[in-house]
Amino acid sequence: MSLQLTQGFINELEALCARYPKREAALLPALRLLEQEFGSVTEEGMAAVAKRIGVSPAKVYGVFTFYTHYRRPTDGKYLLQVCATLPCALRGGLDLAGHLGNRLGIRPGETTPDGLFTLKKVECLANCDKAPCLQVNDDYVDVVNPETADEIVERIRSGTWKPELPPYSIPTTKYEPILLKHVLERDSFTVDHYLARGGYKQAERVIRTMKPAEVIELVKQSGLRGRGGAGFPTGMKWGFVPAASPKPKYLICNDDESEPGTFKDKMLTERDPHRVIEGILIAAWAIQSHSAYVYIRGEFGYGAQVLRRAVDEAAAKGFLGAKCFGADYRLDVTVHRGAGAYICGEETGLITSLEGNRGYPKIKPPFPAVEGFFRSPTIVNNVETLACLPLILGNGIDWFRKFGTEKSPGTKIFCLCGHVQRPGLYELPLGLPLREMIYDLAGGLPEGRALKAVIPGGSSAAVLTVDEVDVKMDFDSLAAAKTMLGSGGVIVMDDRTCMVEALWNILRFYHHESCGQCTPCREGTGWLDKILARLETGRGRPEDLGIVLEVCDEMVGRTICVLADAAAMPAKSIVQKFRPEFEAHVAQQGCPFKKNGQTRTVPVELAAENR
Ligand code: FES
Repeated sequence: MSLQLTQGFINELEALCARYPKREAALLPALRLLEQEFGSVTEEGMAAVAKRIGVSPAKVYGVFTFYTHYRRPTDGKYLLQVCATLPCALRGGLDLAGHLGNRLGIRPGETTPDGLFTLKKVECLANCDKAPCLQVNDDYVDVVNPETADEIVERIRSGTWKPELPPYSIPTTKYEPILLKHVLERDSFTVDHYLARGGYKQAERVIRTMKPAEVIELVKQSGLRGRGGAGFPTGMKWGFVPAASPKPKYLICNDDESEPGTFKDKMLTERDPHRVIEGILIAAWAIQSHSAYVYIRGEFGYGAQVLRRAVDEAAAKGFLGAKCFGADYRLDVTVHRGAGAYICGEETGLITSLEGNRGYPKIKPPFPAVEGFFRSPTIVNNVETLACLPLILGNGIDWFRKFGTEKSPGTKIFCLCGHVQRPGLYELPLGLPLREMIYDLAGGLPEGRALKAVIPGGSSAAVLTVDEVDVKMDFDSLAAAKTMLGSGGVIVMDDRTCMVEALWNILRFYHHESCGQCTPCREGTGWLDKILARLETGRGRPEDLGIVLEVCDEMVGRTICVLADAAAMPAKSIVQKFRPEFEAHVAQQGCPFKKNGQTRTVPVELAAENR
């Protein structure tokens, strides 16, 4: 049976298509439109959208099935999404999922017979300081424990539940934040608030008085390095765009914050969106782009609303649109919501997704700066990177270089989570010792516990032991310590943590998120997941440790993107640094840690299935 689209739907769909160079790029937002209009994405809906956009139904179905975030027809009215990724698991996320399952009489993935609830175990929701994290539909719920979870269920049942925006907080330290300075102020997300603190002056000055090459040179001199993970010099990246290319140039703001343990871009997006937009204006001018896209992760429903409103406000003031600041320069900004796929945080995967496809990464070279979005020169910059630009332009290079180290200047927003007393966002000069962050700023470990391990840059970074926490937190010091700064997600684990279980949790994540294009990644993450399951559930073999290391070696550097490396780096380092723990699992044919009081990072039912 074919679905009749209303004229309103068709108008909205056409408006979406007009925002992209090709109609098919509107596919992801079109599926979102279906979800809004009909409550879920159905086969009939997909067929109707395929016809309107001008692609085959098979293509739409192929794209839809790649992403996890769209609502399915079998989903209940309320999706209870419990985060099962490591930082949440360290703080009771799996117990919460189990509790909700018992309460509702369903297992994760199932829907209650009355169609009211679907329970889902999901991957990191970028809310790791509030672990364990629960989202009800698109809304985050603050400080969840079994009691508050019960209360939410009851309020939903009685029809009295209303989503409320959880309060924002940032731990105070002796280090004055510069990027996060205003985020807790009332109305910080409005254009008036931003203008009152001098906002948009730098974008206007740049567009009116500076040549693009001058902006690129200034940002090169500032030493700003990308804050999304790779740490590549921003100005140098911009410099790769062929200025003489007749093709349109694109700027993409990467707001697909999905690296487990990272939750900084969410705050900037929701609380200081105009700073991000001003950064977009500066970067777009530097590369002479007239179309910018913000690729925001699907789970950031509220963030997408805030950004869209901010874009509209900026356009209404004449900062965006046909004549930015009255100058002869056009810039249109489109907020494009993803749909639940970690791989879309990788820049070529993101571009492929933005083109209306499954988020498959592409082989480099050609690099996106030369051949990116629809084969045109494209720069992808992280939210935090872009947010730094108005500050650098406004205060100068010397001011920016006062913070941080010679090779890693500036501040960085670190996300401390896991077993620390004061998890949260800490904006700090690059180069501070990790020890100071954990013990002095984040209040150390929970009472009576000792430090066991730290992952310093999101879950794809190699682990550090208690003897290595004097390392300085900057790009080069961490590289010298054979790990990485990554996205600044610092995951702290205390002496209750079973490292075999923790690694299994990490590997399940990468297995789940592998796009499946490359054999070493698709098979390697699967094998690692299976071997870790075997070790943790008492079926480990002495040769397993060697196999894990061998598989990791076969994965690193052999795939289109670095997801395989992201799985192999923590795996190798954890096996190597905590080998006796792995051997004990083999010798004792099971986990030697007492389940009582131990931090559980693997769901009970999954552990049981693997016995
Ligand atoms: Fe759960 Fe990040 S929100 S691990």
